[in-house]
Amino acid sequence: RTPDDVPPRPEIFDFQGVSMIHFFTDNWENIQNFQARPDDILVATYPKAGTTWVSYILDLLYFGQTERQTSVPIFKRVPFLEITIPDFGSGKDDADNLPTSPRIIKTHLPVQFVPKSFWEQNCRIIYVARNAKDNAVSYFHFDRMNMMQPEPGDWSGYVHRFMEGKLVFGSWYDHVNGWWKKKQTYPKLHYVFYEDLVEDTGREIEKLCCFLGLSRSDEEKKRIADGAHFDNMKKNDMVNYSNVVVMDFKISPFMRKGKVGDWKNHFTEAQSLQFDEDYKKKMTDVTLQFRCDI
Ligand code: A3P
Repeated sequence: RTPDDVPPRPEIFDFQGVSMIHFFTDNWENIQNFQARPDDILVATYPKAGTTWVSYILDLLYFGQTERQTSVPIFKRVPFLEITIPDFGSGKDDADNLPTSPRIIKTHLPVQFVPKSFWEQNCRIIYVARNAKDNAVSYFHFDRMNMMQPEPGDWSGYVHRFMEGKLVFGSWYDHVNGWWKKKQTYPKLHYVFYEDLVEDTGREIEKLCCFLGLSRSDEEKKRIADGAHFDNMKKNDMVNYSNVVVMDFKISPFMRKGKVGDWKNHFTEAQSLQFDEDYKKKMTDVTLQFRCDI
């Protein structure tokens, strides 16, 4: 593929009450009929919450010593279930064809859209959530650089669309809340906060091992935390998306900052106040608390 092949930016539309683009709905029936296996691991997130980071940690936990680390890009090792790109392939087919087990599969679907087979097979699911303000900032820069996302426009309009849930995969508020609620009835769901990962990656890897029933030596876990450190991932062409032609790194790199609190460099005081007011109305479940600072 060359940049000339890149299709025009897609338009956003309402899909069963959730804002979507066609790349994620074109193959809908097939995606809904996806056949999960009991040992599949699903990594679910609202976009830009740390999907790649956690996918890579999981890949290292299971396949750290294998040749694929230096030859297969992360988006092939951990397919993006609902993506379908004309003439290029679909994440569902990639997942079907994964040669290894367990299969680690990524999704940004809100909980109500997850193919029912994952629930029926009682698969382990890891949900990663990130505080709304940093999530919005990260998504803004991603939409600027990724030509397969709708045009983001300027930051002030973008913040409003974030608050209205008019970004791809819908409302952040509904997403994090929907998955949080699911945890109450589905024990094989591990809910991880991006801020906790930044604060103490080793501790979170330990919790992941516990959830997955894995035992790894301290040395191995340290090696994984180190390999998955922001600076090392940024340098690693197999995980930094540098070989993806639709992303323009001159606008913004995929591995951008990797920080908690970068929102302070983007929100004006007025935007922040308005955002907080609106946030209180939408986030009424006191058991779900995010940190915008660590
Ligand atoms: P920023 O844009 O704030 O830098 P996703 O993988 O869900 O698309 O999320 C991407 C975000 O996670 C980006 O945030 C990226 O820099 C951050 N990220 C990826 N790997 C990371 C790591 N090892 N440590 C901290 N942040 C990481």
